[in-house]
Amino acid sequence: MILKQMLPYSKFLLELTINPGDAVVDATAGNGNDTVFLSNLVGETGTVYSFDIQQEAIENTQQMLDKHTINNVKLIHCGHQHLNNYINQTVSAAIFNLGYLPNGNHTITTKADTTITAIQNLLPLLKVKGIIVLIIYHGHDTGKLERDALLDYLSLLDQNRCSVDDTHTFLFSHLHSSLGRVCSYFSLTWETPISG
Ligand SMILES: C[S@@+](CC[C@H](N)C(=O)[O-])C[C@H]1O[C@@H](n2cnc3c(N)ncnc32)[C@H](O)[C@@H]1O
Repeated sequence: MILKQMLPYSKFLLELTINPGDAVVDATAGNGNDTVFLSNLVGETGTVYSFDIQQEAIENTQQMLDKHTINNVKLIHCGHQHLNNYINQTVSAAIFNLGYLPNGNHTITTKADTTITAIQNLLPLLKVKGIIVLIIYHGHDTGKLERDALLDYLSLLDQNRCSVDDTHTFLFSHLHSSLGRVCSYFSLTWETPISG
């Protein structure tokens, strides 16, 4: 099952990229699983910035932090599109596990415009060899719109960065589920810092 492969693969990429002491982003805290995973990778000296718009998600994630006695997470009740208002350091990695809160309100879901704004605001903070992992569930209508808009945006980003400024190399991978394309995976790696 591609879903079962995809989540471990995204974690594998994050493990390769993240070092103790790093600052990283969980763009969608949800039930806190990714936040806990990132927290363990950055260790006591690192920081995880974890965002969600739902009070329920913030509470669920806080419970996970308490359960695991985690103190290196800044849990932020705010949309990830505003992340640049909260982060004043470079980050080595981010995960966007998009969609709705499992077992929560399925009408509250990530949306293309705010997800793209978040990526735009995150890229200037991403360090050399940093990575952004995007996991998109498009078995539902909003997810389909989000997938298509993200594909368009990422394609443009690729051309712009590579053609306008040769110093930027952009790595983009896209795996489709063979089972009705329910989930897509993207990763972005900056090979050199953004200038200007
Ligand atoms: C699939 S869940 C995240 C799962 C989570 N990473 C985990 O490990 O449990 C998606 C989450 O995105 C949140 N969300 C929706 N729009 C958002 C936004 N603009 N900024 C931050 N979080 C958002 C939802 O509230 C939901 O909790």
